[in-house]
Amino acid sequence: MINVLSICAFLCSIVFVQAQTYNRLPIPEALKGPECTLRIVDTFAQLRTGNQTITGGINGHQFWGPTIFVNKGDTIRMTVINNLNDSTTLHWHGLHLPAVMDGGPHQVIPPGTIWKPFWKITNNAATYWYHPHLHEMTLEHLSKGIGGLLIVNDEQESALPLPRTYGIDDIPLVFTSRRYATNNQFIVQNTAYGDYLLANGVHDAEFTLPRQVNRLRILNAEVERSYNIGFSDDRTFYVIGTDGGLRDKPYPVKRLHIAVGERYEILVDCSKDELGKSVDLLAYNANQPFGFPGGEPGQNGQFGSLLNNKNFPMMHFTFGEQTNAPIMTIPEKLIPFQGIDANAVTGTQDIRVMGGVPNSPMPFHFTGGIFDISRVDKSIPLNSVQKWTITNSNVFGHTFHIHDVQFNIIERNGNASAVGQHETGWKDVLYLPRNESATFIAKFADYADPLHPFMYHCHFSNHEDDGMMQQFVVIPPSNVEDAVNDFSSVRVFPNPAEHSIQIDAGEMDIYYATIQNVNGKTVMMLPQPEKGSTIDISALPKGFYTVKLIDMKSKLSIIRSFVK
Ligand code: C2O
Ligand code: CU
Ligand code: CU
Repeated sequence: MINVLSICAFLCSIVFVQAQTYNRLPIPEALKGPECTLRIVDTFAQLRTGNQTITGGINGHQFWGPTIFVNKGDTIRMTVINNLNDSTTLHWHGLHLPAVMDGGPHQVIPPGTIWKPFWKITNNAATYWYHPHLHEMTLEHLSKGIGGLLIVNDEQESALPLPRTYGIDDIPLVFTSRRYATNNQFIVQNTAYGDYLLANGVHDAEFTLPRQVNRLRILNAEVERSYNIGFSDDRTFYVIGTDGGLRDKPYPVKRLHIAVGERYEILVDCSKDELGKSVDLLAYNANQPFGFPGGEPGQNGQFGSLLNNKNFPMMHFTFGEQTNAPIMTIPEKLIPFQGIDANAVTGTQDIRVMGGVPNSPMPFHFTGGIFDISRVDKSIPLNSVQKWTITNSNVFGHTFHIHDVQFNIIERNGNASAVGQHETGWKDVLYLPRNESATFIAKFADYADPLHPFMYHCHFSNHEDDGMMQQFVVIPPSNVEDAVNDFSSVRVFPNPAEHSIQIDAGEMDIYYATIQNVNGKTVMMLPQPEKGSTIDISALPKGFYTVKLIDMKSKLSIIRSFVK
């Protein structure tokens, strides 16, 4: 009897060991700024056995793009080439920049078109990300795997004794999940939750952490699911950074709630772990309060999933050899936190979550109506400090994200002490549980543009696509200067041109320039091109082109042309 049992246990353990096959965590290629080219294509990825899955990729990646590195203070220049069969946009999530460079739903890049935004990086060292944002298509394009991280470095961060060898002791971890049809294609519509977790684009990921202090930069890139992360041995780990910057000191936790769109940087001390042993990073998602995204009981259907309402592994970590010059201790201090002065508030906004109740014809939305690209919902004076309160007396938890600014959460449910210690740093996304409210303050500095809005929305891409999104403009102080509208001296040269053209803007302050080919198709989009800058046209085929230039103040447009 004992023999039979132990043989059985032995066989079972073999089966168990064989079932645990892992895939090495891919580290996305590092793309050094400040000049970056991102080419977005339709492609395929072998994500599981059987058929390949149709995906979208950037620069040869088949799912999830390169990690862009840039220094605070640099002017980043992006060349985004849309080689998809579909229009899309690329949004720089968390970054402070002019609205025309932001890549929201107004910045549509048609197939075959080059978009060239640029801006000065003023954000703190932190982990940001870029992703498509075309209205009603965000879910689909993001689900294909289009997106990537953007890591800002600065002097304050560089001076700290933190792990920062990318892909060695400083690890990017982008989590999402997908559901598959029997032919291995993603099921995207009416699917709030995937059935299989992906880490940097692979299932069942493993990684070897050196036996020292490691830094994990975690992004939740799900459609709806939150992760309540923790380690399988219940070890303490340390929150060192939120969406928009480092904290004043490491905050020890055993569990951390990461909602869609949020980034957290954590430190994990592996200095005392045994070589060759392992630990799992888990989502402790079982038995969460009602309204927790991913807590629904079902295994299938629109709101069900094989991962719902249970604890599941996110990463398998094995401990490996130390690196040269390892970080061996958790630092005591990080960066002094200088938040926004709450006494400087000059305006308040109250936003309520509406709709989405069973049998209602209205999807989730905010007070004021479902998203309408032609309706500007709020006008915010330049340089004002604003207090926004979002109230969710709704059937479910949501997230709230705003473009342009980083904010400080000052209250939850009207109570300052209810703000989680882990989330008191710079944020651009917050989790809003059911029957709760959250209040933040933000300063709307630097970029005013009365015609070009920024977005705020729930970051669940299905809710956002269904209209749980609105828009605001930042308005400049009233301007008495008369608009100039004699643009006769504006010229584009040389003509004919070979590799580049220049625009002599004369009296014009160019708001937007676009280049059309002879069929009228826009082939290049240049938001606010700098005076005297050279425009590289080497990617354009020979032919006749028109250049449409829009004036900043009058918004009048003129046409010039050249031959290549
Ligand atoms: Cu991450 Cu409006 O988006
Ligand atoms: Cu954003
Ligand atoms: Cu939502």
